[in-house]
Amino acid sequence: MKFPIVRMRRLRENATLRDLVAETRVSLDDLVMPLFVAEGIARKQEIKSMPGQFRFPVKGLVDECKRLKELGIKAVILFGIPEHKDPQASSAWSHQGIIQQAARALKEKVPEMFVITDLCLCEYTSSGHCGIVSGKKILNDATLEILAKTALSQVKAGADLVAPSDMMDGRVGKIRETLDQKGYHHIPILAYSAKYASAFYGPFREAAQSAPEFGDRKSYQMDPANARMALREVELDIAEGADLVMIKPALAYLDIIRAVREKFHLPVAAYNVSGEYAMVKAAARNGWLDEKKTVLEILTSIKRAGADLILSYHSADFAKWIRE
Ligand code: PBG
Repeated sequence: MKFPIVRMRRLRENATLRDLVAETRVSLDDLVMPLFVAEGIARKQEIKSMPGQFRFPVKGLVDECKRLKELGIKAVILFGIPEHKDPQASSAWSHQGIIQQAARALKEKVPEMFVITDLCLCEYTSSGHCGIVSGKKILNDATLEILAKTALSQVKAGADLVAPSDMMDGRVGKIRETLDQKGYHHIPILAYSAKYASAFYGPFREAAQSAPEFGDRKSYQMDPANARMALREVELDIAEGADLVMIKPALAYLDIIRAVREKFHLPVAAYNVSGEYAMVKAAARNGWLDEKKTVLEILTSIKRAGADLILSYHSADFAKWIRE
């Protein structure tokens, strides 16, 4: 059957009918808001390359989470910016570390908020790399111990879920083993399985003061040219005990989200990263894009590609817009 009997536009004439047949919907239930918490600041500081995003002191973070809760945001992922960096990333696993302080404060003051902690060393190492450095090399196995220690201290402080983003081999297994040994069998791991070496992280590195001091992250993060390799990464992380897997960034990697969705049966997360956010903000500020429509389209496309959950800096705005 075809035209003139078939007319695709019949289903598009009426707004209610369009909603009735919509295949994809973004809900607040799917969104995670990323937040930066910094040591040694008295009040929140706006991040220049990410208008509308801030570095918060612990107290400001608690207030922000109360506000987000009111808006209907149920989950946040925390990134820490310590005052002290050293080769062993000791502020990452210190009981008094910034993330540990933040997790404790949130669990005490806004207990309903689901707290995910990003698990990586780049904000804490003096080199700015995601692992322990020897000469110009990023050491894999020596980094695993520190990641596991960091995971444990985050969970002890109250993290509901840990999300390793370092891309070292074997880290999911090591973290799982360590958490299980200490009685934290119930804490899930969200693995940044397919994390690409991407230019779209630029604004984040300004925000988190985590740009590498030398070289780049290409010896551990993935080459944007590779799709099959992403499936291997996911497969290995699942074998090591990942409960959810993530693709990052989202927009230039929708094909990877789709491929992972089709091949595996665990929840798939996508990270709508800082550079993707900054592009929309910059264009909207210039009057070149309608921000609200653009964001809705972006989030919808990430879900349509197959993501179950989305980490996005637009989450709070989205929550406001759907109330209007
Ligand atoms: C830490 C980490 C990064 C991001 C999340 N975790 C930066 C990086 O790998 O350099 C980027 C997030 C974003 O751009 O929004 N390794």
